[in-house]
Amino acid sequence: MKNYNVGIIGATGMVGQRFITLLAEHPWFNIKVLAASSRSAGKKYTEAVGNRWAMTVEIPEKVKDMVILDATADIEKIAAQVDFVFCAVDMKKDEIRALEEAYAKAECPVVSNNSAHRHTKDVPMIVPEINPEHAEIIAAQRKRLGTKRGFVSVKSNCSLQSYVPALHPLMKYGIKDVLACTYQAISGAGKTFETWPEMVDNLIPYIGGEEEKSEIEPLKIWGKIQDDEIVDATTPAITTQCLRVPVSDGHTAAVFVRFENKPTIEQIKEDWKNFRGVPQELELPSAPKQFLNYFEEDNRPQAKSERNLEGGMAVSMGRLREDSQYDYKFVCLSHNTLRGAAGGAVLMAELLAAKGYFD
Ligand SMILES: NC(=O)c1ccc[n+]([C@@H]2O[C@H](COP(=O)([O-])OP(=O)(O)OC[C@H]3O[C@@H](n4cnc5c(N)ncnc54)[C@H](OP(=O)(O)O)[C@@H]3O)[C@@H](O)[C@H]2O)c1
Repeated sequence: MKNYNVGIIGATGMVGQRFITLLAEHPWFNIKVLAASSRSAGKKYTEAVGNRWAMTVEIPEKVKDMVILDATADIEKIAAQVDFVFCAVDMKKDEIRALEEAYAKAECPVVSNNSAHRHTKDVPMIVPEINPEHAEIIAAQRKRLGTKRGFVSVKSNCSLQSYVPALHPLMKYGIKDVLACTYQAISGAGKTFETWPEMVDNLIPYIGGEEEKSEIEPLKIWGKIQDDEIVDATTPAITTQCLRVPVSDGHTAAVFVRFENKPTIEQIKEDWKNFRGVPQELELPSAPKQFLNYFEEDNRPQAKSERNLEGGMAVSMGRLREDSQYDYKFVCLSHNTLRGAAGGAVLMAELLAAKGYFD
């Protein structure tokens, strides 16, 4: 596989730091440029990130002395040095939309963790095991933007990265209704127990905007390309409640599901065990070998023991059983900042690289 020079836009932030640690030793992607706001521009990375560095490993040597560029003012300069950029910035939605399109128009593809473009009809929102074929919409997006190489592709919200993968192999039974209650880690809010001590021994029953994202985004992921846009799926009906819980990393979901054609418990477990996606077939560097993992023990999956399965890129399930109102219920878990954020974006970039979208 060819090597690609990459930029990280928002390199000083929580997600940006995760990109740096994931890419420091990546076999295909070489960190060439770091960018952030004008507050950080011109400073060396260690100076700019200061005491905000929140990873459990040290800042990688290769980025320590890199001088930060200005994400907005230096677009042309950045685009000239890299094959594509990862983007995770804390800005207003309309500013992010404009920034990402400006990179695309400078012929620099963008792999984004931001939500701003998730509902743009010709921007693919890819979970590589589920809807890799949505990358084909990039041709239509390039036509709209008037670009040859440039485009924007996005990651979905972290809350749904456990239950959408678990439900996907079961779609063939006609899923009618889904109820999912999520129990979300504090790192999803960019926080640790040090920076958010109120979360120790606490639970907050509200995460702004999360329930809407958790109900709507799966329908785009399960949507189909028609003409020059992705048309959302109309089923299943999904309802959610999203709670913040005192867990550092790992989002858990308690899921209830109703089918048109109810499978057996054994069929569901077999479908999970046998599921393979394009990342597994292509053996992409960040792909888990076994994406969906069922645990028979009643007290699993647990955030602490399962979140780092296969480098935090696998999904864990357990407690599958009949329900008195729905057909079945189960519990599932995924690492919110790895599979759910930077790791999922790196896997998407590997898929796009393998399919030639950065050439
Ligand atoms: N599932 C997911 O995909 C997922 C998960 C978590 C977060 N996110 C998204 O990722 C993004 C970043 O989240 P985070 O937690 O990493 O935020 P964060 O820790 O607050 O970091 C924000 C980053 O944005 C940069 N920035 C702020 N204003 C800027 C500007 N005007 N121009 C250029 N850069 C600017 C900051 O640079 P300075 O240091 O210079 O201020 C910093 O690098 C958000 O949009 C968030 O919603 C997505």
